[in-house]
Amino acid sequence: MLEEIHTLRSFEGVLQKMKFGHFDDLHREYVITQPDTPLPWINYLGCQAYFGIISNTAGGYSFYRDARLRRISRYRYNNVPMDFGGRYVYLRDDESGAFWSPSWQPTRTDLKDYTCRHGMGYTVIGSTANGIEAHTRYFVPLDENLEIWQLTVTNHRSTRASISSFASIEFCLWDAQDDATNFQRNFNTGQVEVEDGVIYHKTEYRERRNHFAYFACSEPNGRFDTQRDAFLGPYRGWDKPITVESGQLTNSIAHGWSPIGAHQVKLDLAPGETRQIVFVLGYHENPVDQKFDPPESQTINKKTVKPVIAKYLDPKEADAAFERLWQYWDSLLGIFQVDTPDIHTNRMVNIWNAYQCMATFNMSRSASFYESGIGRGLGFRDSNQDLLGFVHMAPARARERIIDLASTQLATGGAYHQYQPLTKRGNNDIGGGFNDDPHWLIVGVSAYLKETGDWSILDVPVPYDNQPGSEQPLYEHLQRSFNYTLSRLGPHGLPLIGRADWNDCLNLNCFSDTPGQSFQTTTNKEGKVAESVFIAGLFVFAGRELAAIASHRNLKDEAAKYLAEAAKMEKVTLDAGWDGEWFLRAYNDFGGKIGSKECKEGKIFIESNGFCTLAGIGLDDGKAASALAAVNKHLATKHGIVVQQPAYTHYYIEMGEISSYPPGYKENAGVFCHVNPWIMIGETRLGHGDQAFDYYSRINPSAREAISDLHRCEPYVYAQMIAGKDAPSFGEAKNSWLTGTAAWNYYAIVQWILGIRTSLDGLQIAPVIPQSWPGFTATRIYRGVTYKISIERKGKGNQIALTVDGVAIEGNIVPPPTDGRKEVVVKGILS
Ligand code: BGC
Ligand code: NOJ
Repeated sequence: MLEEIHTLRSFEGVLQKMKFGHFDDLHREYVITQPDTPLPWINYLGCQAYFGIISNTAGGYSFYRDARLRRISRYRYNNVPMDFGGRYVYLRDDESGAFWSPSWQPTRTDLKDYTCRHGMGYTVIGSTANGIEAHTRYFVPLDENLEIWQLTVTNHRSTRASISSFASIEFCLWDAQDDATNFQRNFNTGQVEVEDGVIYHKTEYRERRNHFAYFACSEPNGRFDTQRDAFLGPYRGWDKPITVESGQLTNSIAHGWSPIGAHQVKLDLAPGETRQIVFVLGYHENPVDQKFDPPESQTINKKTVKPVIAKYLDPKEADAAFERLWQYWDSLLGIFQVDTPDIHTNRMVNIWNAYQCMATFNMSRSASFYESGIGRGLGFRDSNQDLLGFVHMAPARARERIIDLASTQLATGGAYHQYQPLTKRGNNDIGGGFNDDPHWLIVGVSAYLKETGDWSILDVPVPYDNQPGSEQPLYEHLQRSFNYTLSRLGPHGLPLIGRADWNDCLNLNCFSDTPGQSFQTTTNKEGKVAESVFIAGLFVFAGRELAAIASHRNLKDEAAKYLAEAAKMEKVTLDAGWDGEWFLRAYNDFGGKIGSKECKEGKIFIESNGFCTLAGIGLDDGKAASALAAVNKHLATKHGIVVQQPAYTHYYIEMGEISSYPPGYKENAGVFCHVNPWIMIGETRLGHGDQAFDYYSRINPSAREAISDLHRCEPYVYAQMIAGKDAPSFGEAKNSWLTGTAAWNYYAIVQWILGIRTSLDGLQIAPVIPQSWPGFTATRIYRGVTYKISIERKGKGNQIALTVDGVAIEGNIVPPPTDGRKEVVVKGILS
């Protein structure tokens, strides 16, 4: 049954083994076959409210909604080794006393046939040792606040085997920040209950919390531990727990110190026999007035949680939940599937890039192995851009996200830079003043309208700064976003940059000379001079999107106004924003140029050249072509396009954080993968399919799999950054998973290179593909209709002639069927 679901036409028979593992496209999995990957190669569990991060050696942690405030299991960042602490299973041969972990960590014993299969919302890790095969499947069922670990153990010996299996988790005392710092209090507060073999973690439940965690096991009557030190023993770590070594948990009850959950199940296995044990780790809330049972006691009321636990401890229910999860991902990914001549494009678009887009939507930039979950909330800029990558898969959730974001917008049209997911309130610590922020709301809303055609969203009353009584239609928010820049223009008529624009590290009003001061929030200048050419490009782009929205609503005068302002800004950009061969990046607080031939370092930048050309600026007069040729000459490397050149070798107080990074890293001339697609899109606007696709392939993680020793991050997801040519580690990726790279690359390849583009009027088909491609096919479910698309190349250009159900149409926008057809066949001939 599953095999049928999994069948992906385009990948049959493709399986290339690499050093650390390989793609299994048929099952939509990446299979890791060597546990000591260069970095932890991780996956996400959960896609609604309960989430987990899991590495290829079972490391990681879980949380409910907010990685800081509702952390369920503990994780030590900055650990040695880096990935340590997780959902650890141990097996012990009760005859010989040998013990090991089927996931390699934490014992790091030699294993046979180690595999970690990261799939869509699940991970299976297993191996064989001492003739015992064991696999654990970890996943979060849909619509539940819990995770299931299904441990399957098989005896491959010719004799009976007496095995103890142990499963363990270290609880976090909820607030991950406090948990990692406030020991004088926290060593006293830990509390648990154990009832019917289920371990309940209830620290602070007696006072102000109405939530608790639990760790349950399908085998009754086993032994347990809840006090970490009893489980591990003095001076021991997770690699060698004294209880696992001795073969007996101690039934300890935690009072203070560090509560854990550990279960022991004894298995007596005949030769060839397989047994399955199910563990459930979960989170549960009770109504505040029904916390205790009996009411006057201090005992957790377990009435509503017990049925949930009982249900998922049943292996049949667990399997059924897993099947539902499969169906869920199958339907999400089924919304867009493509078959091109390039395997890396196919697997990223059809599987991993789309999957990563859902992860960036869910997590924003909060919780990964590089984002600690305690630092950042949801970014206004980031979350709006993430929409570009996931709106087709989760339009209802996109709508909700848009309203949440817009509700944090300030009445000035400006925006809090971040908001907290649990409270949905703007984050005062960071505040606002990043002058690009408001425009991303226009970009996000426009993407939503193009996908759904749901115009009603524009009429939703949305508050400013969450203040009751301040509600205005969402459309008004967009207008204020646009006007925000009009009232913040600098000496050249370009937009003032404020604290920073897209490049958080170009802090032109900061002038910081104090160690440890935040570049993001320190502003020592008034900010009336420094201007951003990037924001100019974004303004033109967003302005035209807003004009299209206005004219759709029949607001002709307004549309004309936006177009006029955009045209005016375009002119200013082509004039004051032009350096002769490429677009300038900015003007600093002294009115000096940034990103100009005249500069000693940082002569040319990617962002302004990318966004201006993407916005269509300079397409007619050759400036866009000139800018992109300069990018190719000065910024493009074999590992992607770097942010700027030459890299800053000194700290320039007037530039801010950008020059704080050593050359070649991050914003200082690293390959910031997020912005590479802007150049790709710019190239498609010039009709350069080969160049666009070449850039796409340079940073495509799957295409880089063969150089995993150098790249080091996961070959199935994008990383934020690849070290640039000025860095000693040129080509090494960092900060995988949570990056705007996911959405932008997805958007660039799908909507601009393959050219299957959403528009306000319907699905547009405008491929700009490599000349060597004979064509491609795709299936797109759009506004309830399935479009079966095939593109055939007959000539070398990008001219397209379309037929829809055999009938030729004018132009390249497929009109939505008016006769109730649910499937249309679109054929395109490129000449
Ligand atoms: C990083 C940026 C990031 C910012 C967020 C900086 O240190 O270099 O990439 O956006 O922090 O606050
Ligand atoms: C990461 C941030 O999340 C994003 O908002 C920003 O644009 C880039 N860094 C570049 O600084």
